[in-house]
Amino acid sequence: MDFSTKLIDAKSNFTTSKTACIVVGVFENKKLTPEAEALNTQGAISSAVKSGDISGKTGSTLVLRNVAGISAERVVLVGLGKETKLSNTAFGKVAQATAQCLATLSAADALITIATYAENNNAAIRSLVLAIRATAYRCDSLKSKPDVITTGVKKVVFTVNKNEQAATRLSLAQSSALANGIALTRQLADLPGNFCTPTHLAETAKKIAAEFGLSSEILERKQCQALKMGSFLSVTSGSDEPPKFIILKHLGGKAKDAPVVLVGKGITFDSGGISLKPGAAMDEMKYDMGGAASVLGTMRAIAELKLKLNVIAVIPSCENMPSGRATKPGDIVTSMSGQTIEVLNTDAEGRLVLCDALTYVERFKPAAVIDIATLTGACITALGHHNSGLFSRHDAAHDTLANDLLAAGIDTGDTAWRMPIGEQYNDQLKSSFADIANIGGPAGGSITAACFLERFTRQYTWAHLDIAGTAWKSGANKGATGRPVSLLTTYLINRTAD
Ligand code: BES
Ligand code: MN
Ligand code: ZN
Repeated sequence: MDFSTKLIDAKSNFTTSKTACIVVGVFENKKLTPEAEALNTQGAISSAVKSGDISGKTGSTLVLRNVAGISAERVVLVGLGKETKLSNTAFGKVAQATAQCLATLSAADALITIATYAENNNAAIRSLVLAIRATAYRCDSLKSKPDVITTGVKKVVFTVNKNEQAATRLSLAQSSALANGIALTRQLADLPGNFCTPTHLAETAKKIAAEFGLSSEILERKQCQALKMGSFLSVTSGSDEPPKFIILKHLGGKAKDAPVVLVGKGITFDSGGISLKPGAAMDEMKYDMGGAASVLGTMRAIAELKLKLNVIAVIPSCENMPSGRATKPGDIVTSMSGQTIEVLNTDAEGRLVLCDALTYVERFKPAAVIDIATLTGACITALGHHNSGLFSRHDAAHDTLANDLLAAGIDTGDTAWRMPIGEQYNDQLKSSFADIANIGGPAGGSITAACFLERFTRQYTWAHLDIAGTAWKSGANKGATGRPVSLLTTYLINRTAD
């Protein structure tokens, strides 16, 4: 995508800035920031603010054209609220509003001076880059005529204090790699099941590997059979699409450093199988590879950044379909771990593909394993659409991992909320005929799903993100969100700082 960013000194003379659009801040007490004051050579800015056309509250915006005495074609006033530095969350709202305003303008470039009013300048610039890139995202590759877009900025210039230039340049590079990762995740997730097949996900992994010098390996059905992945293979049995078990390695750390392993649920369509889902909104089950998409987007982001860390992505991918060969309720399958599983509901398939992947990754002797999955409708009931569900064992090592993930989420506005797991819930997974049942009843559905996965993760430190409520939006603005790529990428970047 043709989008570029640049930094200039915060002490520049903005009256002579030749730009299609200069973005300056105003406060809700009607005071102007020094940058707005500098453009107020003939009183146009102060009179606009006094008129009340902009409230100055966080997220308010007003566009002024032909402001006398300055070189910029437009001035965009952005409300910064009270005259105190903005928190990450408050600035996120400002960034969103700024991006939405810029997206409506026929201005090719913008000079943005408001990031210095955030508590964390670099986080503010990241919010702006992500928000502006998000407004430019379209999924129109399958329309016979692509959407015609004539608005939106292609080049953004940020102001930075002289002594912060180096740090901000790095942060800008991270933001743009992150934006590229998010865009890939959204594209993959929005692509329907007849295009985004397991084979397509495998091809995408290979493409990322070729572009950024990573190594990839795709295990075919035969190889999965040889590895005794009976649980994963039981999910694909009703489908005519070949399953793919995808491995993608970014080895940017030292050879001896234990890797972080990301495991993404890659169900490219979840019909429910023989336990068929109801028809309403079944189309949205094309998003059931959202975990896989977020893992690939994260790998793209860290590969572009040449992150000095070993990260391995593992994606068990297949369709969940009904057919004469499909797994039936009551069938018992043997997982790669040797544990037998009674499949009481074929729609609880995510845990069946993940458990074999979680056993497979033991060979990497991981420092940590994080699985990401659109796993349960129950997680939406519990947490709604604001937070991903975070599950991890309750001991010191896991608390550290969980807290690091939560912090990375807060940092980027891609938040998660920790949920409990443990012995009391485990009892719900008892089976009369196998080692474990694949459902635990309606009570605490997202928790019993996590408890199921936990049984396969005892060899390493592990966390599970249930992104059923956060990976996409339903309704009129249906579409993938790119979550939790920001959380994951930031977590990995932060790990390199230790
Ligand atoms: N992919 C779904 C979970 C899901 C449903 C995510 C709706 C987002 C929106 C998963 O495979 C599933 O079907 N889970 C079942 C589990 C149940 C059968 C125990 C569910 O949540 O209903
Ligand atoms: Mn399902
Ligand atoms: Zn599913």
